[in-house]
Amino acid sequence: MDNNNTERKKVIFSAIQPSGMLTLGNYLGALKNWVAMQDEYNCIYAIADLHAITVRQEPAKLRKQIIETFALLLAVGIDPQKSLVFIQSHVPQHAELAWILNCNTQFGELGRMTQFKEKSQRHADNINVGLFAYPSLMAADILLYQADLVPVGADQKQHLELTRDIATRMNGVYNNLFTVPEPYIPKIGARVMSLQDPTKKMSKSDDNPNGYVAILDKPEDIMRKFKRAVTDSEAVVKYAEGKDGINNLMGIYSAVTGRSFDQIEAEFEGKGYGDFKTAVGEAVCEALRPVRERFDALMKDKAALEDIYREGAQAASRFAARTLSKVQKKVGLIGR
Ligand code: TRP
Repeated sequence: MDNNNTERKKVIFSAIQPSGMLTLGNYLGALKNWVAMQDEYNCIYAIADLHAITVRQEPAKLRKQIIETFALLLAVGIDPQKSLVFIQSHVPQHAELAWILNCNTQFGELGRMTQFKEKSQRHADNINVGLFAYPSLMAADILLYQADLVPVGADQKQHLELTRDIATRMNGVYNNLFTVPEPYIPKIGARVMSLQDPTKKMSKSDDNPNGYVAILDKPEDIMRKFKRAVTDSEAVVKYAEGKDGINNLMGIYSAVTGRSFDQIEAEFEGKGYGDFKTAVGEAVCEALRPVRERFDALMKDKAALEDIYREGAQAASRFAARTLSKVQKKVGLIGR
């Protein structure tokens, strides 16, 4: 990472699960910001594979998804020359610090996590200890790098609060161990909704595959999904309350073209929804085309990809080792 700046750049940490098939929502809502933040901050990005195994995974499929998600981060523009980018399980300090944090986190605190309650219902046959301790592993991810800022969506906000609680408490007991991270709310960043039910967030677990666009979808599939997007019967391209479908399409169009809502309304004045949906579809195809091309190229050279994630893990590990060894000493373990 470049440290030429005399003023210390703030550290940003974020991670994404290798769940396969990241969507346009992930791209516009998170990844595009990850890319944009690279110059202003010291960015550290991980593939959260240890979090992924808190629910049952098919090993061969998981392996493929980890590599693909890593390649996708590079394809959207995360630059390993500027940012640290690595696979969580390749940096053993994450699991090591997570254990120490577990011993400083209360059963009750973890039991109150909404995501845990919801996931235990959804995976009632596998309510494992890892699922329960998921937030303290996440805290370890963040605290290891003394991160100042963590960009997270609404679903991870409670976990970040818990991270802050753990850090503050341990700082009190052991005296200045961790930077207490703040949530980072990006200036821009679209909240992309389902194309079939625009009151719900776009998600790849949508029952209806027409509800989401995957970053790697083929242009003809993207066009089809936009043409079928749910709108309303007013036939006016205008941002207004109650026009969830149109508002969502305008948000997407604005995010990929950089145009303001006023400009979009002017552009489509007197035109129908058909024209608008086609324009949004085409703009999305254009935005995703270079990503898909870079992804394909990266996946063709596995050895090069391997070099990148190995180097990333080594660099991350050097950084993480410093925090871990300080924590180990302060809690009374003997350094190795
Ligand atoms: N739990 C996050 C998610 O599912 C991924 C994640 C793991 C993360 N560790 C993190 C996000 C640390 C921010 C910071 O989206």
